[in-house]
Parts: sequence; structure tokens; C-alpha cells
Amino acid sequence: MPSTRSQAQPILKFPRRKSSRVDSKSTPSKSTLQPKETQSPCPMEAPKQQPLPERIQLTPLSHGPMALKGITLCPRLTPRIPLSPRKRTGDENGCNLSANLLGSPPKQSRLNLASPRKLGFDENSPVLSPRRLLSPKRQPLSPTSRPRPSPSRLHETPSGSPSCPRSEKKAPVVRLFAEKSKFHSVKQALHTAVPERLLSREAERSSIRSFLEDKALNASPASLYISGAPGTGKTACLNCVLQDMKDELKEIQTVVINCMALRSSHAIFPLLAEKLGASGGHTDTKLQKLLTSTGPTVLLVLDEMDQLDSKAQDVLYTIFEWPYLPKSRLCLIGIANALDLTDRILPRLQALPRCRPQLLHFPPYSRQELAAIVQDRLTQVSGEGLLDPSAVQFCARKVSAVSGDARKALDICRRAVELVESDNRKKAASPTAETKASRVSIPQVARVLSEVYGDRMSSSEGESFPLQQKLLVCCLLLLTRNGKNKEIPLGKLHEVYSRLCAQRQVGSVGQGECLSLCSLLESRGIFALKKAKEARLTKVSLKIEERDVENALKDRTLLGSILTAGLP
Ligand SMILES: Nc1ncnc2c1ncn2[C@@H]1O[C@H](COP(=O)(O)OP(=O)(O)O)[C@@H](O)[C@H]1O
Ligand SMILES: [Mg+2]
Repeated sequence: MPSTRSQAQPILKFPRRKSSRVDSKSTPSKSTLQPKETQSPCPMEAPKQQPLPERIQLTPLSHGPMALKGITLCPRLTPRIPLSPRKRTGDENGCNLSANLLGSPPKQSRLNLASPRKLGFDENSPVLSPRRLLSPKRQPLSPTSRPRPSPSRLHETPSGSPSCPRSEKKAPVVRLFAEKSKFHSVKQALHTAVPERLLSREAERSSIRSFLEDKALNASPASLYISGAPGTGKTACLNCVLQDMKDELKEIQTVVINCMALRSSHAIFPLLAEKLGASGGHTDTKLQKLLTSTGPTVLLVLDEMDQLDSKAQDVLYTIFEWPYLPKSRLCLIGIANALDLTDRILPRLQALPRCRPQLLHFPPYSRQELAAIVQDRLTQVSGEGLLDPSAVQFCARKVSAVSGDARKALDICRRAVELVESDNRKKAASPTAETKASRVSIPQVARVLSEVYGDRMSSSEGESFPLQQKLLVCCLLLLTRNGKNKEIPLGKLHEVYSRLCAQRQVGSVGQGECLSLCSLLESRGIFALKKAKEARLTKVSLKIEERDVENALKDRTLLGSILTAGLP
């Protein structure tokens, strides 16, 4: 039986010691792009002189709030690569909603500190289809390019600009609205959708560009495999390059598929056939015929490609082989997390040297890069005043020590803003308390960090599950394993979880915090959430197979004992 301190209150963690990885991160990151065979010259080497032929030095970002050296602007008003379903593209603040959804921003939940995550529903749309390009609905999800909400929705916000009078001089109600709006815009700026401005990643961008120029634009079939941990900017970067080159790629039939949305690996074939406009070409052999018959070059981007990993690996193998078939007109770009997907999953490919894809690896972001990404977002909305630079640095240091994941760094800062906002609201509700705007500083970030990473935040073991999250996973598993319904309302899940905590004498969290834990589990790819108006009606389902839960939790004893005991 596990014993733990009460976890009703998240633990405040302050930096005591430097993470061992921080120093190493301060050296410039490296990016590799190499064909597997070193004897063949790499067609995508960076033009600069390189210390190692196959390595590309990432330009270290300059520091400071306006570290613009490494910034690249993504062209606006063009469609985006779909984000994967498990990745949050929005939150209760509507920060990542598509422009067409902005008319009705979701209501803010009063007590929840977490943002119930929205899923990217515009999956698997051919990104560069001209029809889509013309559609005003598909504008990019950037805070700066979005149509402004109607004035009534702005709550009389005086733009949050530095020129606005000091809040102490305003009437309390106006001051509250001004603060609310400030929080709102900062939360929006800290979104995790495809960014308006892509910082650093110049080497990776130019590598992808070279691939497209040398291969796709030259009608020379080839494949590129992009790897890197979650949140290292793979999708964002490719998206930016595709947008940059959309004129050049006009003649090329571009299809982008996020494989996370597929029900099974074989479902890729009918979907691809549909996207290519093939009639009745629903099998891999028919697709093969199509891709080797006359027609324009096809650029196929498969994001989250590891989802196509089937037992026999036949799907991945088939697809990686396509570009190398005689008369093929396919250029393939596969994206996934694993560095060695092509080695590990495709041993058969290794036997065919000509079929080996070129490789491009995205290293985790360094502390400086993460801090620059967050700072840049804040600068966009003059929100630097709301987040202490030391808090941003603290977050960047912790996240770079664990994963170098920009999505996580942005999420953590956004949640810390939500914490302060919620505290402010509570203060405002109490007539005796002062309604002075507080800033997000290290304690708030530390609190979110400890929630996200649990007690082992500073260890080098990587991410592990805090007990509360483990218990929630177990409860959901218990609720779904026997019943037909795989989607459980949060209210029900929380009820069972509270009983389990009581039974095991573990402190439990309230429903609001429970939702925030579910959101964290969603960002880990374990839960899927379907948000409802009322938190308790939010539908929660498991995104991984029962047999994989044990692997994910890395706590067989706890899982075993809870599952054996059954529903509490
Ligand atoms: N270099 C960057 N500059 C600005 N924002 C970034 C950068 N890299 C990542 N992000 C932010 O983090 C989010 C997650 O990145 P993404 O490209 O989806 O990661 P991956 O595909 O590697 O999992 C992006 O949508 C973006 O908001
Ligand atoms: Mg991605």
C-alpha cells in the first residue's frame, strides 16, 4: 500500500540545486541531418563550414526579451499543418481556437486552474489545397493575426498597453476588467498552436527546404524522416517551411496527414487515396499503382508517423518503399518522436540501402531557447510585466533539464498565469482583500512544475507520474475495462477516485484540480478529454491500451493491487 503525504495541496518546490543538465544545455544544440550511408554526400548539408560533416550547428539564440536574431516569421493567413489530436490546441481561454470559433469564446471556469484541453479537430486536411487556401476560415491561429473580438467581448480593455493609466487610479470594476484582459492576452500569447514566429531552428528549416528543393521540386522521389522529442518544434517548423514555399510548391500535390487521428495503421491507405482523389484506390497496391503512374509529384507528410507502427510493420515498410519504386512520383516526409524509428522498426529497409530515408533530428530546446520562446510570446502582447523574467528562466531551466519541450514550457507558464489570475479573482470576491494585481513569479511556476513533473522533477530519471495521476489512470481503467462505455464523465471519475483515495488513505484533490490532472494526463497522451460546458460532464477516455498502462505508469505494484481490488 503506498503511503504518501497529503497531496491535496500541490507541493511548492524551490530550486535548491542546479540541474546537472543545465550546463550541458548551454552549449549550442546540434542538429543532425544525414543519409544513413555516410559515403554518399549529404545533399542537405548546411552551406557553412561544419566541424563534423554530418552535423549542423544550431545558431545559439541571443538572450534577452527581444532575442530576435533567431526569429523567423511564418507567413500569415495560410492553412496550417494539423496538430495531433492528443496535443492541446486551445484552452478555456480560447487561445488556440481557430478564427471561425472565436465568435463564441468558451466561458472561463471559475475555479479550475487548469485549461481543459481542446483537441485539434481539423486533422488530416491537405494543407496546401487551393480550396483551403482561399477559405477565410482557415486563418492561422495566432493571437496577432486573429480578428479582434467584438468590443463587448473585450470587457472594456484598454489594450493592456503600457500607456494605459496605472491600475490604482481606476475604479475597482474597470481595474478588474483591465486585469482580466491582460491575463487573457498573455494566456493567448502563450498558446501552443503553430506559432506566428518561429524562433531558432534555422538549420532545421534550411535542411527541410533543401530537401524540398532538391527532391520534390526536382521531381526526384525521396524520403526524409524527421525525429525529435515532443515539443521540439518539428510540426511547427515543417509547417513554416511549407508556408514559406507555398508558391514554389504550387505544382506539387501536397498531402499532410496526422497519423494520430487514424483508427488503425491500415486506415492510412483509404485516407490517402481519398486525399489524392483516387477513385476506388483503397488498397496499398492500388495506391502504389497510382503513385507510379503519370501525374504531378506528390509530397506526402506523415506527422506522428509512429502511429503507423503495426505488428508486421508492413504499413511503414510499404510507405517508405513507395518513393523508390520505378517511376515513382512520391516525396515522403515522415515525422515522429523516436530517433531510431527507421532503424528499429524497419530492419527490412536497412537491407535496401537505396530505400533508406534521409534523417533530420530535432534536438531538445536549450534553456536559453525555451526562455527566448516564452519571452518572445510575452513581448508580442507587452506581457513581460505579468511574468517575472526570473520565473520564465526558472521554468526554462527546469523544462530544459527534463525534456526541452517548448509546448510544456508554454503550458507551464500559462498555467502559472491562470493560478495568479484565479488568486486575483478570489481576492476580488472578498470585500476585505485588496485587489492588487500580482505577478507570476517563481513560487507559482514552481507549483505548476511540481504538479506537472511530480516529486522527481529534479531527478534525471525523466518524467514520472505523481501518485494522484497514477490513481486517476487506475480509476479510469477500472471504470472502462468492463463497461461498454469507454468515455467516463469527469464527475463519475472523480467520485470513484475520491473513494479510492479514502480507501487508501491518500489525500484527494477536488473536481477542479482533478480536471487539471486529467489535462496533464492528456498532454502526456494517456487520456483524451471531450470538454463539456460543465466540468463534471467532461468526457474522459483512455488513449492507450490497457496493456500499455503498466508501462506508462511504471508502477506495477500499485496498478496490480488497485486492479485486483476492483472498483472501490
Ligand atoms: N521554435 C519555436 N518558436 C516558437 N514557438 C515554438 C517553437 N517550437 C515550438 N514552439 C511552440 O510549441 C508548440 C509545439 O511544437 P510542435 O512543433 O508541435 O512540436 P513537435 O511537433 O516537435 O511535438 C508549437 O505549436 C509552438 O507553439
Ligand atoms: Mg508534432
